[in-house]
Amino acid sequence: MVVTAHPLASVVGADILRRGGNAIDAAVAVQFALAVVYPDAGNIGGGGFLVLRQHDGTLNTLDYREKAPSAAHRDMYLNGQGEVIENLSYKGHLAVGVPGTVDGMVQAHATYGRLPWAQLVQPAVLLADRGFPLTKKEAKKLNEQRKDFIRYNSQSPDFILKDRWRPGDTLHLKDLARTLERIRDQGRAGFYEGQTADLIVAEMKRGTGIITKEDLAAYRAVWRKPVTGQVGDYRVISMPPPSSGGIALIQLLTIAQDYPLQDWGWNTVKSAHLMIEAERRVYADRAKHFGDADFYEVPVKGLLDTTYIKSRMQGYSPKKATSSKEVSAGVPPLPEGPNTTHYAIVDPEGNAVSVTTTLNSSFGSKVFVGGAGFLLNNEMDDFSIKPGYPNSYGLVGEEANAIAPSKRMLSSMTPTILEKDGKLFMVIGAMGGSTIITTVYQIIQNVTRYGFTMQGAVSAGRFHHQWKPNWVLSEWGALGFGTGAGLWLKGHKIVPKYGGIGRAAGILVLPNGQLEGGADPRGDDAAAGF
Ligand code: DON
Repeated sequence: MVVTAHPLASVVGADILRRGGNAIDAAVAVQFALAVVYPDAGNIGGGGFLVLRQHDGTLNTLDYREKAPSAAHRDMYLNGQGEVIENLSYKGHLAVGVPGTVDGMVQAHATYGRLPWAQLVQPAVLLADRGFPLTKKEAKKLNEQRKDFIRYNSQSPDFILKDRWRPGDTLHLKDLARTLERIRDQGRAGFYEGQTADLIVAEMKRGTGIITKEDLAAYRAVWRKPVTGQVGDYRVISMPPPSSGGIALIQLLTIAQDYPLQDWGWNTVKSAHLMIEAERRVYADRAKHFGDADFYEVPVKGLLDTTYIKSRMQGYSPKKATSSKEVSAGVPPLPEGPNTTHYAIVDPEGNAVSVTTTLNSSFGSKVFVGGAGFLLNNEMDDFSIKPGYPNSYGLVGEEANAIAPSKRMLSSMTPTILEKDGKLFMVIGAMGGSTIITTVYQIIQNVTRYGFTMQGAVSAGRFHHQWKPNWVLSEWGALGFGTGAGLWLKGHKIVPKYGGIGRAAGILVLPNGQLEGGADPRGDDAAAGF
């Protein structure tokens, strides 16, 4: 089964499985297909994280997160007075991190793939070359972005060929098709060297970007040991730094384990209050302690220490909301020694892949590589560009996540796999910036504590707290009037979030071995399987 943000990408992935490909083969094909049919977040100009659990239980994770260019420096988004220059880390050429996706896919395939590389890239080539029909949501988004696409590009991208896209219109992406052919035929060199690299560097120069040929040549995705935690009957397997997601998720689930959520009921005042208070404390830790562990000593072990995690709830009152001003990061025990999209895949042998990939915000920096037809990320905004200055998701950070040359920016992406009794149980993850962690957290609780189906758990309403700002974002109806009023009486400020919190993709292994997909109704997401 394959669950992705776009029906065509799901079909591409399922087809690879049908032809004898394994979950990694399908993941590679889906990554490239999404770069065509779901350009909001699907990408070759961005990055992501992949969590793998093979059918024999062996684990691995791949970090293909973007890196700061070598000419980047701590204060690159500040003016002479030390003030942040609005939007510089968010839109346009200077917002772009060195893309990691193509090297990530090449390495994933080289280590675990079964089918030939070219066969995995080819479906994306065909979709870009022959064109594909726009969904209603995609047509609307392309129309909304038109102004920015014109503003940030000196060479007209294919996305503005029509003044107004309608659902069902065919979008052809000829330049992207040629770029994908180079990747298909030359692998890594088809992107990081030769014509594609030349086009990227030329685009940087047109717009005062700073990515060089050397930056591209030096980019390498990295295999990392997953973070894992036993929470009740479940073993949680997720992404280590430079993501904050895995650790934060294990902290949230560990805290909730001490409270009888089932008895309290789903999204009642009691259970929502507990979850919000836990989120407040976990996100305070995130702001202080998390960054690229290759550059900053993230106290991973300490942060995962059960005694430490539980100690964070000191000061928690079931009666009233704690103010975020009174909550700061904890001091974990020291270590010994030194627009995003998620897809979930389980192949017929039971190998499972959980991938979250992104350009950061929808359509990234809005910059297309002229002549190469793909969008570049705006991932630099995930750094803490100034201590305490909120990024586009309102997240704050400090030294741990300050900009440095070749450093990876901190992420909230939380591609996760759950085991129960040593067997594959769930593949889950989401998009949604800072809300990714709480989205994955709630979905896991919906299934493991409240007995929801996979689809029910993904569809159910969500809420979110991230320490700062001090409010609870809530989808319409997620808390209901009674719960909302009850939380308000405890001192929580509730802010409605129209348009949804996070979009998730999950697969659940049912007791009889069948797979149940959870595709998010907030998007065009679809499950495909056989
Ligand atoms: O890595 C991160 O945490 C963000 N760049 C993810 C962006 C995202 O989920 C986009 N969706 N709103």
